[in-house]
Amino acid sequence: MAAPLFITFEGIDGSGKSTQARLLADRLRAQGIATLLTREPGGSPGAEEIRALLLTGASGRWSAETEILLFTAARRDHLEKTIRPALAAGQCVVSDRFADSTRVYQGATRGNLRAMVDSLHAMMIGREPDLTFVIDMDPATALARGLARRSGEDRFEDMGLPFQETLRHGFLALAHAHADRCVVIAGNRDTAEVASEVAAHALSRLAGSAA
Ligand code: ADP
Ligand code: TYD
Repeated sequence: MAAPLFITFEGIDGSGKSTQARLLADRLRAQGIATLLTREPGGSPGAEEIRALLLTGASGRWSAETEILLFTAARRDHLEKTIRPALAAGQCVVSDRFADSTRVYQGATRGNLRAMVDSLHAMMIGREPDLTFVIDMDPATALARGLARRSGEDRFEDMGLPFQETLRHGFLALAHAHADRCVVIAGNRDTAEVASEVAAHALSRLAGSAA
């Protein structure tokens, strides 16, 4: 029996994380692997309430510091109520975003707040994913995809292209620094092609974790 894995998807807005997280969860389930699909911010009732505070309203609504606290509060609830119980019950967890998003969005776009992000993470979260897919692609194409969707939760997309360029570099640097758990996936390809590359990595990691 394979030990359940905690798998996350990261990347800029519109890069295909939600699509790929759903396809991976479907694929794992089709292989008979119990899998919980979740997302951040959100993933538990309390964290979903915090999500609404974070993603709607004017782009200048919160300072970077306040955002760090709100995202960390949401993540703590998500971890307590959803992620840890699922892993303990033997389910794989696939999350659309996790702590790497805070490291990049809050830690590296409005001054260097990374030390603050890291110390809050150490104090309140203290858990890393076993495997992280960083979906990399050109921000102009990703932004066009994301805004075409018009979800009403576009506070970060509304910050524009240079912001997304900064994020892209932030995610690539993070993937490089955490090469043990991060896999960079080229996102500007056919959905099914991306999905089969992702599934191959996940299944091989699961095979490696089998007792
Ligand atoms: P994210 O969660 O990273 O914001 P989504 O998975 O929601 O990205 O995808 C953003 C939009 O782009 C959606 O409308 C989705 O259907 C579309 N999309 C996702 N993957 C691809 C792809 N490989 N090629 C073209 N469009 C895609
Ligand atoms: P999401 O719904 O995944 O947006 P998208 O589908 O456009 O990628 O995430 C909502 C937004 O919240 C997204 O713009 C990234 C941002 N975010 C942070 O700034 N910090 C965080 O810690 C997380 C989890 C998300």
